[in-house]
Amino acid sequence: MNRAAKKKYSCAIVWPAITVVVLGIAAVMFSLVSCGNDWNAPAEVKSERNPMPATGANLDAAKAIYLDRCVNCHGVKGNGEGPEAEKLAVAPKDFTDSHAMNEVTDGELFWKIGVGRRPMPSFKNRLSEDDRWLLVDYIRTFSTRLAAPSGSTAAPGRP
Ligand code: HEC
Repeated sequence: MNRAAKKKYSCAIVWPAITVVVLGIAAVMFSLVSCGNDWNAPAEVKSERNPMPATGANLDAAKAIYLDRCVNCHGVKGNGEGPEAEKLAVAPKDFTDSHAMNEVTDGELFWKIGVGRRPMPSFKNRLSEDDRWLLVDYIRTFSTRLAAPSGSTAAPGRP
């Protein structure tokens, strides 16, 4: 093969290679986006009971974890205005929105804390199950319980 033929051969391979790489990246991005949209807890998790009662001592313990792990994004008041929130591509959920909070069950909140969704990290391996249930109790204190959604184990009227 002379020099010119060699050059032609290597150019011919470049474009198909680029196409393959671009398609690969597109496929990865597509799957990431579709994974990201699916943040629905399985039905059996939604109706799970919260084993940790919202006692004063439990809420104190939960608050300490919240201030350590969650406050940077979700804010001291739970309104999603933590110091890091502005830098995030997705706004943290507003836990003071009673209507929105009444739409989700304890099991759902527990599941979401476990799996996370970018930019929110997954806490499954960072916090124990008990701690994640405690956090559910704690983030409920930011909103008013309007009516217990089906599957919820919390008492109505709890602050
Ligand atoms: C890096 C920032 C960040 C940290 C740290 C963080 N979160 Fe989040 N959280 C978010 C964002 C952003 C969302 C919204 C994600 C979305 O809707 O895609 C969210 C959503 C949630 C939701 C879902 C609410 C709903 O009804 O859909 C819960 C529950 C939650 N966070 C609890 C926590 C708890 C508890 C902690 C601490 C253990 C925590 N988060 C730490 C950023 C964060």
